[in-house]
Amino acid sequence: MWYQTQQKLTGKNRMREIIEQSSSTVNGILFRNGSGPKGMDPKQAFVNGTVNVVSEFSFGLTFDIDDPSMLQNMMLIAAETEPGLGFDVVAGTVFATYAGASDTLANQLHWFCITLADHPDVQEKIHAELVASLESENEIKKDKCPFTRSVLLEVQRLNPVIDTLIHRSSADSVVDDVLIEKGSTIQGSTYAVLHNPQLFPEPELFKADRFYKEGEFVNDIRVIAFGLGLRNCIGKQIAADQYFIFATNIIRDFRLSRSSKSLQIAKHRFVRMPKCGNVRFIKRE
Ligand code: HEM
Repeated sequence: MWYQTQQKLTGKNRMREIIEQSSSTVNGILFRNGSGPKGMDPKQAFVNGTVNVVSEFSFGLTFDIDDPSMLQNMMLIAAETEPGLGFDVVAGTVFATYAGASDTLANQLHWFCITLADHPDVQEKIHAELVASLESENEIKKDKCPFTRSVLLEVQRLNPVIDTLIHRSSADSVVDDVLIEKGSTIQGSTYAVLHNPQLFPEPELFKADRFYKEGEFVNDIRVIAFGLGLRNCIGKQIAADQYFIFATNIIRDFRLSRSSKSLQIAKHRFVRMPKCGNVRFIKRE
């Protein structure tokens, strides 16, 4: 059912509409709360935006950031009106989707804003690409924005939001002469791959054009931010669309500057998130 819904929506105008609508709500929040001298921590705005995309495509409902009871209500309504769905199934599915969708993308966008706040030159280069795409295509199109895509991928490489992947082997297998017995727990680290200097030279540096060669975006499948192998992120297509649309609409509308000093990683839980990352969103004329 998940795949059918995703197939119906992904790449179609409806999905784009939902993301654009949510992105515009987010930009409204950033403008209201983040344009003053103190800036704001944009995380809550991003959680509201990413959750709204999921609930809109799951149930056709959008929620207000100021009404925390709505998520609970939504699950109950869905279970009552869909006789084929038991409450447990709905609650479990919605929980997994919400958990998978909200903190991940919200933090990725947060890392994006903090990183770009320190690189005004990169913001301007992205902005120029967006303006050119809007002028020629009347919309921001991915294939017209190769530098922007390089930056988005580099942000995911430098600061992946999910590090530890815990899987279990379903059969005996041998990797580099080491036997991994069936049933073993395997713990992978995306960070270890994404910061491996043999794969990505000078991995601690933010290189905006790392994936931009001779005017083209060059995708690199070694950026395993969505996991790897057959079991990976089921929302990665929607996440990639959201990441692109949210981020480009922010740079289209705002200049970003950092209004808090620290760029430490918050205590490491499942999601890698920046600690204390206030950003100022200054509306472009
Ligand atoms: C920047 C955004 C995102 C990143 C980096 C990300 C990354 C990941 C990773 C690394 C995993 C673990 C894969 C594994 O088991 O090896 C995962 C799982 C998952 N993700 Fe995402 N994700 C993102 C956004 C989303 C979105 C938007 C959704 C839903 C619309 C979503 C839904 C899920 C679900 C349900 C799982 C669990 C899949 C399973 O257990 O089989 N994710 N994600």
